[in-house]
Amino acid sequence: MSDVSAKSAAATVPAHVPPALVWDNSYDRFSCELEDPYTAITRLHEGPDIIWATDASYGRSGWVLTRYDLISDAFMDYERFGAERPGMIADLLGVNLRLNPIEIDPPRHFGYRRNLNPHFAPKAVNQMEQRVRSACGELIDTFADKGGCDFVSQFAVPFPSYVFLDLMGMPRARLADFIHWEDTLMRGPDMAARVQAARSIYHYLEEFLAEQRKQPVNDLMAGITHATFEGRPLDHLETMGMLYVLYVGGLDTVYSTLGWIMRHLATHPELQARLRAHPELIPDAVEEFLRAFSVVTTHRMAVKDFDFHGVPIKRGEEVMMPLSLANRDPRKFASPHEVDIARKPRHLAMGTGSHACLGMHLAKREMRVVIEEFLERFRSIRMRAGETYRFHGGRTFGVEYLPLELS
Ligand code: HEM
Repeated sequence: MSDVSAKSAAATVPAHVPPALVWDNSYDRFSCELEDPYTAITRLHEGPDIIWATDASYGRSGWVLTRYDLISDAFMDYERFGAERPGMIADLLGVNLRLNPIEIDPPRHFGYRRNLNPHFAPKAVNQMEQRVRSACGELIDTFADKGGCDFVSQFAVPFPSYVFLDLMGMPRARLADFIHWEDTLMRGPDMAARVQAARSIYHYLEEFLAEQRKQPVNDLMAGITHATFEGRPLDHLETMGMLYVLYVGGLDTVYSTLGWIMRHLATHPELQARLRAHPELIPDAVEEFLRAFSVVTTHRMAVKDFDFHGVPIKRGEEVMMPLSLANRDPRKFASPHEVDIARKPRHLAMGTGSHACLGMHLAKREMRVVIEEFLERFRSIRMRAGETYRFHGGRTFGVEYLPLELS
């Protein structure tokens, strides 16, 4: 590989991997090297369209697809790129839990997902909008008269948890627990802490499910407790997999994306002014923000041996699909590092194909509401002078600290 490839290949590289594709580096570390993970990771566009990383994820080696077209092909080709991979949550829990439906491949996938679809369709999201807006307003109220805030801890982290609790019909009193569990699950100090968080979530969801089986609190819970697959009710683990996927699907992703959006707005007053004057452009801005600030790196497992764009992939190998690389691919998007709200991009930030994000309408509504409310409540949103933001790279690119001045 070119200069992004670095050093000699590690001894563990399988024999079928062409040496020119070996990238002896850590994906997680590499994505944290520069001033933001997008600038860092897109250096991979200087190299091949597919590479073998000696540390692709949590110390494991595997393929990394670096281009939009390849990532899009992999999403669509579930017969070769399986989503039924050993799951992080199942590993942490030591329970044979399959996140449902994200860790189930077609054709069975649809038999599960159809139970959830109506509850996440635009019509259902319209009914939630008022609650999303009031959660947003309540959080803004906590710092509105203070001249500023840390956008991450005071808004972006709690906001999606509020929305999740409302969506599920869970008590707001559990907010602090949820935030703590979620943060520890994703970024806990060590494995023991992450296992403990995964278990606490599981136990809480299990208790909640037992109550819901007696008397579902809303339509979504009625849908989940009465869900069927091929005419039979779901068993306990199938239902738990459904509750768990909603928990992990909609918190880290929303918080992370909001952080990048707000950082961009805070450093682009002209865009703030434009969107304040033309709020009807905010939905287009959300699409472009999702493209430019794609936070997810998803993955698949090769189901069999096959040749992909001239590269031999073997059964069982992990294939990483950084959506940031797809959506900032200069072969697909002109000037990909520029945020251009008139672009109307066909991005992959929320996946495509059968596993395309179930919560996409809800997530986009959350983002629209947050942008609308912040622009309406504050005449000026700026980074606090003399301070710097902090972020993490890795499997989800997230802003960790974003000091704002609000007036
Ligand atoms: C900005 C916010 C979000 C982003 C960037 C995002 C991104 C994604 C991506 C990339 C996928 C596809 C993963 C794959 O194919 O491997 C996905 C799937 C999924 N997302 Fe989201 N997501 C977001 C918000 C949400 C929300 C709010 C929820 C639910 C409340 C949610 C629930 C799900 C579920 C259940 C799936 C699996 C769908 C299936 O397998 O059929 N997501 N999301």
